Amino acid sequence: MRQKPTGQSWRNWKKNRARARKKMNMDPNPANWDAEWDSFSGDVTHEELPKDHVEVKEIIEWRKKQFRQKQEHEESRKLIHVDVPIDGPYGILHFGDPHVDDDGTDWIQLDRDIELVKSTPGLFAANIGDSRNNWVGRLARLYADQGTSAQEALLLADYFLRELKGNWIYILGGNHDAWSGADDPLRWITDQINALYQPSEARIQLNSPSGAPVTINARHDFKGSSQWNNAHPVMKAAMLGIRDDIFVCGHKHMSGYGVVKSPDDDRICHCLQISSYKVYDRFAREKGFRDQHISPCAVTVIDPNADTNNRVQMFWDSVRGAEYLTFLRSQI
Ligand SMILES: [Fe+2]
Ligand SMILES: [Fe+2]
Repeated sequence: MRQKPTGQSWRNWKKNRARARKKMNMDPNPANWDAEWDSFSGDVTHEELPKDHVEVKEIIEWRKKQFRQKQEHEESRKLIHVDVPIDGPYGILHFGDPHVDDDGTDWIQLDRDIELVKSTPGLFAANIGDSRNNWVGRLARLYADQGTSAQEALLLADYFLRELKGNWIYILGGNHDAWSGADDPLRWITDQINALYQPSEARIQLNSPSGAPVTINARHDFKGSSQWNNAHPVMKAAMLGIRDDIFVCGHKHMSGYGVVKSPDDDRICHCLQISSYKVYDRFAREKGFRDQHISPCAVTVIDPNADTNNRVQMFWDSVRGAEYLTFLRSQI
C-alpha cells in the first residue's frame, strides 16, 4: 500500500496523486489500476553505448589486407635473390648449429671461423640454425646444467651475428630458436644488421657479377633418416624435389655428404648434412649416439664461371676451404 510522503498534508498528497495519475493518463478509479499497470509493459530501454569492437566489415577488410601482405611475402620467399658483391670465385662458410651458450660448444673454432670469414676476401657466412640453446618451459631447468645464463646466451648470439654483419648469405632459425615464438630476439638483431633471417628454411639464388647463378636449398632439417647414410634425407630432397646446386641442413649434429646429378640440366647437386659447434653433448651420450661428427661446419667454394662439374667444391675443413678460395681468386 502506498505510503503518504512525509512533509505533506493528506489533502495535498491526494491532490498531487490525482494530478500525477492524470498526467500519466491513469484511470482515477483504483479498482481499475491493475488493468492500467498491465498496459505499462513496454521494453526497458537504456542509453546506447559505443561498441567495444570495430565493425565486422572493417575486420574483414583488415584480414584481407593482412592476407595479401602474407601472400606477397610467402610467394617471394620461395626463391630469394641474393647479390654476391664480388666478381669471380667466392665461398660460403656454413656454420653448423652454433648453440653458442652450451658448455660443450667449441668456441675456439667458432671464434677462429668468425675471424676466417672476416679476413678472407670472397668468403661469406651462413648459419643453419639453433644459434642458442634457448631453453624454455620445462627445459628451462637445463640452465642449471650450463655455465652461461640466459642473458649471457643472448649476448653471445648477438656478438656472433653482429661480428659478421655484411657477410651473411642466410641465417636460419632452428627448432631451439623457434621456441621463442613471436618474441624471437634474433629477428630484431638480424633486422638491425640487415641480414636475411628465415625460420626453418630458405631457398636462395646467388647472383654474382659474372657467371652462372647458383641456388641453395637450406633447411635446418630435411625430413627422414638412414642408419646407412647420414646424407640420406638431404639427398632424397635433391632427388625428389626441386633441383638446386647446394642442399644443406643441420639439426642432427652429424656430418654427411653426397652428390646427386640432375638428369634434367646436368647440374651437380651437393648435399650436405653439417654437424654442430656443440661437440660435447650430454644428450647424445645418454642416448648412445655414435660419433658422426667430422666438422662443425662446411665450406662451399663456388666458381660461377666453371662448368657444372666444377662449379661447387666442398671442404669440411674451413681453413682448407678458405685457402682453396684464395688460390682460385689468385688465378683470375
Ligand atoms: Fe635443431
Ligand atoms: Fe641443434
